[in-house]
Amino acid sequence: MSAPRILRRLPSTLVNRIAAGEVVERPASAVKELVENAIDAGARRIAVTLKEGGRSFIAVVDDGAGMAPDEMALAVERHCTSKLPDDDLTDIRTLGFRGEALPSIASVSRFTIASRPAGADSAWSLEIEGGAKGEARPAAHPAGTRVEVRDLFFATPARLKFLKEPRTESSHVADAMRRLAMAHPAIAFRLESEERALIDLPSANPSLLAKGDEARLERLSAIMGREFGGNAVAIDANREGFRLTGFAGLPTLNRPTGQHQYLFVNGRPVRDKLLAGAVRGAYQDFLARDRHPMVALFLDAPTEMVDVNVHPAKTEVRFRDAGIVRGLIVGALRNALAAAGHRASTTVSDAALGAFRPHTGYTAPLPMRGGNGGFAGGGMPSSFVPRGLAETAMQFMAPHATLEVGAPSARVEMPSGEIAAGNFPLGVARAQLHETYIVAQTDQGVVIVDQHAAHERLVHERLKTQLQADGVKRQALLLPEVVEVGEDGARRLAVRQAELAELGLVLEPFGLGAVVVRETPAVLGELDIQGLVRDLADELAEMGDHLSLKEKVEEVCGTLACHTSVRSGRRLTVEEMNALLRQMEATPHSGQCNHGRPTYVELKLADIERLFGRR
Ligand SMILES: Nc1ncnc2c1ncn2[C@@H]1O[C@H](COP(=O)(O)OP(=O)(O)OP(=O)(O)O)[C@@H](O)[C@H]1O
Ligand SMILES: [Mg+2]
Repeated sequence: MSAPRILRRLPSTLVNRIAAGEVVERPASAVKELVENAIDAGARRIAVTLKEGGRSFIAVVDDGAGMAPDEMALAVERHCTSKLPDDDLTDIRTLGFRGEALPSIASVSRFTIASRPAGADSAWSLEIEGGAKGEARPAAHPAGTRVEVRDLFFATPARLKFLKEPRTESSHVADAMRRLAMAHPAIAFRLESEERALIDLPSANPSLLAKGDEARLERLSAIMGREFGGNAVAIDANREGFRLTGFAGLPTLNRPTGQHQYLFVNGRPVRDKLLAGAVRGAYQDFLARDRHPMVALFLDAPTEMVDVNVHPAKTEVRFRDAGIVRGLIVGALRNALAAAGHRASTTVSDAALGAFRPHTGYTAPLPMRGGNGGFAGGGMPSSFVPRGLAETAMQFMAPHATLEVGAPSARVEMPSGEIAAGNFPLGVARAQLHETYIVAQTDQGVVIVDQHAAHERLVHERLKTQLQADGVKRQALLLPEVVEVGEDGARRLAVRQAELAELGLVLEPFGLGAVVVRETPAVLGELDIQGLVRDLADELAEMGDHLSLKEKVEEVCGTLACHTSVRSGRRLTVEEMNALLRQMEATPHSGQCNHGRPTYVELKLADIERLFGRR
């Protein structure tokens, strides 16, 4: 027999606890809400203190607008907010808008709030325990607000069980705070846990703030690392009322996970699939599938074009027109990266120099270029970067860095006429080593180019340019070549016949399970037709039938470029080497191959001198 059904309105304490279940998942979510309130209140300094990772104690202190005692009493009630003056949910300009955070947090903790409005001569405080509100009492407090949260989740033991170790919880808190700090360089942020400063970010100095971009980059590099500061390009693009700003790392500054991608919509940190997908799309041409760029992008959207009220923690948004946003991001990133030309990140040479160290036995620390390489201001755990970073990059660099001059295939050529190295960023070719690497002298150091990777990239870019202009130029084969690809492969290639012809590859079915190739893209020169056609057949199988090749043009161009003839192992004349260097300088994206590996390494004289302990 079932219990009699009694329909009733739940007491407000319970209602708040249910809301808290969604809004306050762990200490980090409470801190995020409280810090957002401080930002909304116009604070210049925000300081957070934790004990036991926030489980036993959280304090958030700000110097913002503060509240009068009657406001304070309302603020902790459910659905009380000062942030929706016109009841207009389509025009949200603050981080908060629901009037839920304070009552939710207060319902599951022992909660104290003290506040003094700017200009008032006294402060007031209010205590709430497990949702039961006390009376406002006079208190001592400077202008601004202080919220203390003790024994979080004491009222909801089930939630308490899910908390992790204090260290883990405090690192979540730090992560949430850093994201907010990235969007607000004018505000100073400090986080202390068990008397240790995890974050100490001063507010940007006024002269930097006047040049908004620089203040932002300063804050970003304090948080994301100095390498990011030195190896990122500025983004600034508009489209139909949307504006995208921020910084994007050069492709050679890549990481094994996407967690160094910070995305903001109207000042709000979000984790959004659409935005992340657009970033991936913009970089896909330059990075292997398992490598990820570092970016911090700030999207300013017209408030009516974006719905921020879709997620309890407000970390997701919905766009009314996803196409505009995607197009803006992809276009802006591609343009900015193209403008970076042949630039490869300095981390490449730092990693190369790092790779030299074990061989020399010389252990003095090598300074990272572009700053001290540390996280003085950001309070990033010290194990985070730069060591791990240098090591990841070294996977790519290690084989390149072990130069054995004088090995059998090393070949030294003195240039006939002396060309001034200073005129060219990539210098003047001096030698080819192992029939694979071109060594060039610049006025400040040495450049080592991987000739195959560089050539592949140049061909790839030329294919794309031709494709966008008047089509890829083709060259007829003297002897058409038959390639066996199996019945499925042959069928797939036949279906794509017209599309492939546009890309410069003319083929047709030839008997059962084979195709005959008649023309190839002229820029590819001599190429491995068998390998190319088989790879293409495989790729088409992976792609399925619904996508047009145009949508995958980057990948297809990459496959085409990959089968050109100037592989490593070909001797080049000095003229050919110099021509390659000049083409690289003139070609966008030539600093990295299609997988985000660098096409060249530059070692500055100063670095080399340090290597020998001369500096
Ligand atoms: N640090 C603060 N300084 C000044 N006023 C504050 C502060 N924190 C909260 N308030 C006031 O209390 C109100 C309630 O805060 P609360 O965080 O519960 O809701 P909200 O910020 O309006 O919306 P949301 O639930 O989306 O965060 C705010 O609207 C604001 O007026
Ligand atoms: Mg709030």
